[in-house]
Amino acid sequence: MHAMPVAGTGETCLIGAEDVRIRFGDVEAVGGVSLGIRGGEFVTLLGPSGCGKSSLLKAIAGLVPVAGGTLAVAGRPAGPAAALEVGLMFQKPLLLPWRTTLLNVELPMEIALKSSGVGRFERARAVELLRMVGLADFAAAYPHQLSGGMQQRAALARTLMSDPDILLLDEPFGALDEFTRETLNGELLAIWHSGTTRLKAIVMVTHSIPEAVAMSDRIVVLSPRPARLIDVIAVKLPHPRDPADAAFARVLGEVRAAARPKVAP
Ligand SMILES: Nc1ncnc2c1ncn2[C@@H]1O[C@H](COP(=O)(O)OP(=O)(O)OP(=O)(O)O)[C@@H](O)[C@H]1O
Ligand SMILES: [Mg+2]
Repeated sequence: MHAMPVAGTGETCLIGAEDVRIRFGDVEAVGGVSLGIRGGEFVTLLGPSGCGKSSLLKAIAGLVPVAGGTLAVAGRPAGPAAALEVGLMFQKPLLLPWRTTLLNVELPMEIALKSSGVGRFERARAVELLRMVGLADFAAAYPHQLSGGMQQRAALARTLMSDPDILLLDEPFGALDEFTRETLNGELLAIWHSGTTRLKAIVMVTHSIPEAVAMSDRIVVLSPRPARLIDVIAVKLPHPRDPADAAFARVLGEVRAAARPKVAP
């Protein structure tokens, strides 16, 4: 299979979705989405609850099969044979309560080593990632000793431990208060821009329009279930982005208009 070109540009994209459909029995979750995501892009998926965002993200990670269309990662079908490492972070931290923060972060590498003998066990990398997410002093703490935001930081470090090329984030900080969420979003952008990871693209699911405008290069606005593409809006604002700026407000208005439920005449 050849890498899929980004529509109209002839450029090769990292994630290529062509008329992707996802079904769960009689429920159609995703109803034909075509989208190309390039290297270097931070893309958000925005859509109402239950529209199929998580399903799409899981399909990119190869955890959910595609019922129709094609979905390629670096030109190969999404799934275990994908050409690039894909890391998925869920909305809940899902830390093992009997392991310390450090041992939770190391878990993916431990599993990879035990199951396939592939990979190297790098404690120094786990310690470095804990420092990057601001948990250097909590390596020996157990999950119940961490706040909600700290648990999400640990989950982010654990996802980065497999050194993914593509990071998929499913409302990573959605359950947190707005202040903590803004702080963690800022830290995520700092990691993305730092160049200290292999990350080539980030795809993040969110319900929040201001969060999508603050974080991403492009916003994919999805319809209610089954998810279909309503609009793709490019956000060409430099970082750091200030919600008080007129340019920010303009993009916000544009995305709000695209995402507004359409009432039949
Ligand atoms: N494993 C599954 N088995 C059966 N149905 C599922 C499964 N996963 C999702 N669905 C259904 O697919 C549809 C889309 O679900 P999905 O979780 O992708 O939505 P979402 O956009 O992520 O919603 P939310 O914003 O609430 O997280 C829903 O109707 C849901 O019931
Ligand atoms: Mg979801």
